[in-house]
Amino acid sequence: DFVVGTAVAGGGHHLEQDYPDPFTYDREYRKVLGRQFSSVSPENQMKWDYIHPERDRYDFGQADAIVEFAERNKQVVRGHTLLWHSQNPAWLEQGDFSQEELREILREHITTVVGRYAGKIQQWDVANEIFDDQGKLRTQDNIWIRELGPGIVADAFRWAHEADPKAKLFFNDYNVEGVNAKSDAYYALIQDLLEQGVPVDGFSVQGHLSTRYGFPGDLEDNLRRFDALGLETAVTELDVRMDLPESGVPTEAQEQKQADYYQRTLEACLAVDGCNSFTIWGFTDKYSWVPVFFEGEGFANVMTDDYERKPAFYALRDTL
Ligand code: XIL
Repeated sequence: DFVVGTAVAGGGHHLEQDYPDPFTYDREYRKVLGRQFSSVSPENQMKWDYIHPERDRYDFGQADAIVEFAERNKQVVRGHTLLWHSQNPAWLEQGDFSQEELREILREHITTVVGRYAGKIQQWDVANEIFDDQGKLRTQDNIWIRELGPGIVADAFRWAHEADPKAKLFFNDYNVEGVNAKSDAYYALIQDLLEQGVPVDGFSVQGHLSTRYGFPGDLEDNLRRFDALGLETAVTELDVRMDLPESGVPTEAQEQKQADYYQRTLEACLAVDGCNSFTIWGFTDKYSWVPVFFEGEGFANVMTDDYERKPAFYALRDTL
């Protein structure tokens, strides 16, 4: 049942200029995507700004294409994402809506998007990054929580469940790999929601790691405590960035360290019963978001720009 996935590149701000759409235009990319993975996650193509560009218009083109590709290649799909503070369209963020209107906008969006792919999505990241690093709810930058209060999160899960009773519904975040204030906040919230009967099925750690900050050695322990709540767990966006080498080419030591982080993340997931989904955030450095978002860091993926396999690729393969 264990699936190994990747994000499907396309639509990101960092790609728009150079590579508008690798998924459609890069044949080598599609070949690796179809062959090496049993799960796919749209990197941007199901996010609000992409799929719902105007209030009365959806753009399902790329999301449909990814879901069809997955069906042809016998892959499952992780849906990403429904309630988030980022990558929302301007019409939403800058609109002037009443509380009732906003609530209806979210309900309609979730019902439409989840309903469209009902039966075809294994896991949905219903709520993405709702806590900050201190473990405080994002009551300022998350439009939904700010305008409608924290109860909207439970409603999002209920609406998603109604639209696709088979999909497993997740909370997803970064910097929650280890046991810390932020993962503690999720633990407390999810416990509370489960007691209320809210349909939460899983907790996932993104896994945007950096060799600068060390490996979260308590990852397995952390996954286990969510497992003990009866939840599924997952790694959803693993990449391991490194300091940009002066020579322009990573050293062997850098690549070994990176491989080690990849391997330990996979081992932690494999060690936990309900951790059945392990996804890397892209496979080639060519289309990585990392150099654009993290100054001075890069080379975070398991293949080079030319699709050569790095030590991290083999480390994962040999661990599986
Ligand atoms: C990133 C994408 O990789 C980029 O293409 C986009 O420009 C910004 O978002 N956490 C998430 C992902 O949940 O959706 C983010 O993806 C990375 C951090």
